[in-house]
Amino acid sequence: MPSPILVALDTTSTPEAVALCERLAGLVGGVKLGLEFFNANGPEGVRAVCETGQPLFLDLKFHDIPNTVAGAMRAVAPLRPAIVNVHASGGLAMMKAAREAAEEAADAAGAPMPMVIAVTVLTSLDDADLAAVGQRNPAAAQAVRLAELAQEAKLDGVVCSPKEILAIRKACGQAFKLIVPGIRPLWSAAGDQKRFSSPASALEDGADYLVIGRPITAAPDPAEAARRIAEEIGGA
Ligand code: C5P
Repeated sequence: MPSPILVALDTTSTPEAVALCERLAGLVGGVKLGLEFFNANGPEGVRAVCETGQPLFLDLKFHDIPNTVAGAMRAVAPLRPAIVNVHASGGLAMMKAAREAAEEAADAAGAPMPMVIAVTVLTSLDDADLAAVGQRNPAAAQAVRLAELAQEAKLDGVVCSPKEILAIRKACGQAFKLIVPGIRPLWSAAGDQKRFSSPASALEDGADYLVIGRPITAAPDPAEAARRIAEEIGGA
């Protein structure tokens, strides 16, 4: 099975991102570039990372009116991401528009269809934060509700915290992809992640992909750290 590890390249430096991709060749399933990297380096930086051959999760979390999100999807399709995402709270019509635009644009660019994934509730928000923006559901229930809405929009899955895997898996079934950040191998520092799981326990609960940043990128030897994690999950 290909590696479920997606490495979060949280940097503004293209050379640094490219060097990490090269050091991790064959050791991980792909890399994640987010708003920090994209706003610093744009599509040109993304293309440089893709040239290393690492599959790309383009984590830009689109959230706008359906027409604009569809346009954004069409704009990133030529970068041939393997995974793209939107905020589920943008609503059913927005998610459907994202899905359709991704399909059409991938076709037009002769690119493979990317997985379109939804972000449910940001894990930085707790129940009190949600209440403050007029959202009365507890975060855990809201995450399941948004995952079901994403499934109705025919998206491929959601990003969720390790603590939400079981509930979303139960609600959305086996084929729905769960991408899980907040992962810490037993031997690494937690950093600012408060609610985290080990790679093995997240996979055991039903995660499809693990987003792992600093335990690999900040390790003295990132390749060795990736190898240790692969061993830990039985993939080496
Ligand atoms: O370095 P670390 O492993 O904590 O990086 C995790 C990555 O996953 C970062 O890019 C972070 O923004 C992202 N993420 C997260 N928690 C979420 C959603 C995304 O840590 N709930």
